[in-house]
Amino acid sequence: MTTTRPDGTVTVTVPVARPAAPPAAPSAPAPSARADSPAAPAVVLAVCDVRIRDEVNDREIVRGVSFDLRPGQAVGIVGESGSGKTLTCRAILGILPEHFAVSDGSIEIAGRDIAGLTTPQWTDLRGSTISAVFQDPASYLNPSIKVGAQITEVIQVKSGLRRRAARRRALELLTAVHLREPELVYDQYPHELSGGMLQRILIATAIAAGPQVLIADEATTALDVTVQAEILDLLADLRERTGLALVVVSHDLAVVAQVCDEVLVMREGEVVERGATADVLYHPRHEYTQLLIAEHEQYGLDRYLDAPNDPNDPGPAEQRKELDGVH
Ligand SMILES: Nc1ncnc2c1ncn2[C@@H]1O[C@H](COP(=O)(O)OP(=O)(O)OP(=O)(O)O)[C@@H](O)[C@H]1O
Ligand SMILES: [Mg+2]
Repeated sequence: MTTTRPDGTVTVTVPVARPAAPPAAPSAPAPSARADSPAAPAVVLAVCDVRIRDEVNDREIVRGVSFDLRPGQAVGIVGESGSGKTLTCRAILGILPEHFAVSDGSIEIAGRDIAGLTTPQWTDLRGSTISAVFQDPASYLNPSIKVGAQITEVIQVKSGLRRRAARRRALELLTAVHLREPELVYDQYPHELSGGMLQRILIATAIAAGPQVLIADEATTALDVTVQAEILDLLADLRERTGLALVVVSHDLAVVAQVCDEVLVMREGEVVERGATADVLYHPRHEYTQLLIAEHEQYGLDRYLDAPNDPNDPGPAEQRKELDGVH
């Protein structure tokens, strides 16, 4: 939850031990659903020990990434520049750059192994099952076409709706991503809108065909801190209302702290630490995670941490004292 104070500072409550929204249980569990939790909804994204090779330079760039996502869950991937966060996402989306390939491990989207999917099968899957938003939303929109027409076109292609129905759906989506005056925004060109509004439009487009998984790769990095917090709130809201599962990638631990249940910390292609977000945040075990947190403290992680609601919880101040003991 984000609150903006009158002085402009933003407070974000770290979702400590908040259970994921329980979406409707599927009728048949997917092959990767855990046997020990028969009532748990099926896994929508299963990434198992994925390794990615740069085939030209004969180097293994990503060395063993694993995580599972069920409806309404959110996993964060943090780590320094070049650690392999985006390549991992691109592998999941089937859009690795040329010369890169998944050399080992497996990726299943909604119970379907993506290895060997054909181009038409990928076209079906992207947008309708898995979708993504990246940094720099303006570069994903055509500057000479009004944004409403661009969303409407995606809806027509993906959902097969006729133009009028697709326009109605586009307006609903603009409302769902908390854009005030959606009718007005619909008729505007990208250059008339702010970065935060453009990112909302990209999110609206990404969720237009009702995907089960949304990957947000540095989706808020270019935005100022208040707008960033609002966009993260929007993702959390979509997750709770629709059961959308999220992969949130950022170099910024505070960003994943706001939205994610679980976090993976990557360094030089390896996952050096993985765990419940609150555990990793308050009890980091790996030296590199401790360093990341120390950097955040320096730049004011306090701003992102609000007092927890549980009166028995020692609270971030106490937890930070514990952290101080770590360094
Ligand atoms: N298209 C590409 N061509 C060549 N090398 C690439 C390409 N994309 C990524 N790499 C290399 O693969 C490694 C991992 O890159 P990746 O983009 O996954 O990092 P990242 O963790 O997302 O970093 P950042 O935080 O800067 O976005 C880097 O060493 C990078 O130079
Ligand atoms: Mg990246």
